[in-house]
Amino acid sequence: MSNFHNFGWRSFLLASLVVVSVSTHAADKAPTTAAVDTRYNLKLTPSEQAEFLAEMRSMLASIQHIMIGIGSSDRELIAEYARHSGNRMARATPASVRAKTPPAFQEIGGPTHLMFEELAIRAESDDMDMIAAYTGKLMNQCMACHAAFKVM
Ligand code: HEC
Repeated sequence: MSNFHNFGWRSFLLASLVVVSVSTHAADKAPTTAAVDTRYNLKLTPSEQAEFLAEMRSMLASIQHIMIGIGSSDRELIAEYARHSGNRMARATPASVRAKTPPAFQEIGGPTHLMFEELAIRAESDDMDMIAAYTGKLMNQCMACHAAFKVM
């Protein structure tokens, strides 16, 4: 019985030592891993930024409503919000912003709007799990572009 207790204490002390040494190491490393932002800067003006970021927030709203639509099997809702971020949004991009975006940006952006159009069509007949999977695939576009570009 007392052996069992001793073993318990020893394990506890050992575990504490491991925790302390791990956190000390994390603290040591913090200064050398200082964040460096290597994203390409689109250098938008304040008013271009306001317009561009508002479009981004409306894409997030599309995704939100699409998720709600998948959760409630509401095909109309999915299609409606997918269309908000489809070709209509692509056409609405101001010319001055378009002029500042390099080909690499357009190669991610163009297909993103097309994928929203495809999502609106898939909403008519695909199973909800397939729509969810396609939405996840579409969001790879969001991830790829955000990793590579910033507005200022
Ligand atoms: C072709 C490029 C591109 C694609 C695709 C893209 N974004 Fe963005 N997004 C950006 C850039 C650039 C910013 C600004 C980032 C910065 O400056 O730090 C941004 C910012 C945002 C913001 C912040 C808005 C604010 O008010 O600050 C949201 C939200 C957002 N994006 C949502 C999305 C969602 C959701 C998707 C996918 C459905 C998406 N974006 C796809 C380029 C893109």
